[in-house]
Amino acid sequence: MPPLDSDFALVADILQLKKEKKAVILAHNYQLGEVQDVADFVGDSLELSQKAARTDADTIVFCGVHFMAETAAIICPDKTVLFPEPHAGCPMANMITPADLRKKKKEHPGATVVCYVNTTAAVKAESDVCCTSANAVKVVQSLPSGEEIIFVPDQYLGGWVAEQTGREMILWPGYCPTHARILAQDITRRKQEHPKAKVLVHPECRPEAKALADAVLSTGGMTRYARESDQQEMILGTEIGIIHRLQKENPGKRFYPVSEQAVCPRMKLITLDTILWSLQNDRHIIRIPETVRSKARRAVDRMLELG
Ligand code: 13P
Ligand code: SF4
Repeated sequence: MPPLDSDFALVADILQLKKEKKAVILAHNYQLGEVQDVADFVGDSLELSQKAARTDADTIVFCGVHFMAETAAIICPDKTVLFPEPHAGCPMANMITPADLRKKKKEHPGATVVCYVNTTAAVKAESDVCCTSANAVKVVQSLPSGEEIIFVPDQYLGGWVAEQTGREMILWPGYCPTHARILAQDITRRKQEHPKAKVLVHPECRPEAKALADAVLSTGGMTRYARESDQQEMILGTEIGIIHRLQKENPGKRFYPVSEQAVCPRMKLITLDTILWSLQNDRHIIRIPETVRSKARRAVDRMLELG
């Protein structure tokens, strides 16, 4: 849909206010197209935390889901992290609480806890090292062999990492409701429709879906694959918001979603209006108690140090 005149006015106001406040807008690859287009940087969870760590802006407007904005606030205690929509939480991140994790750790004393970045700050604070889908294999490979590992909360990402690394891991039974909608039969159907297309699947998908993929990649990995490979057609097994970016960066190539139903509703709550409102009113500032933040930071820093 072409942008409306009112969108141009909103964008102009956002850009003006952003300049006055020395703010930077970071957006995840699943955000609405209009949000991606107004952002200074669009990326996957790892790229966004690396960007937050390096920015010299005073304020970060974080367009994604809550744990992503929290991660920026964990890394940047001296900056104001604004989150335009407080209800935009990731359901998978809410599938484990700090009390759940403490109980699990008691059952396995001495185990190393690897937490997916899709967790609350309080769960990160109970963990030893964080990971994203882009570096989970590398993070687990960095742990001494023989060490017992608890991986939370994504059973599908965890199962895939265990397979890739040959490490046994205790998995938490969490999952992403959006990626769980991407079924093997949908991939098979799309492959029949587009026989030349390569299939790229996110590690949060079910194992049967990943088994049909040509490559299993984070959303950032998918954007690189689309840019660097000679493939002209790709089938995407992930949230459909990424297609806006892929199409924009690769106008000559064709991208098909495995399933039109792979929508993360919480990711779509942030709009141009809420970004402007956020900048105008300094809402909602992400605040994390220092005791939690400093412990969570250790787990996030250990991941970032791996590069
Ligand atoms: P990426 O880090 O691959 O962007 O994934 C984040 C996410 O929440 C996927 O559902
Ligand atoms: Fe969470 Fe899934 Fe949405 Fe990613 S797509 S933010 S894992 S619910």
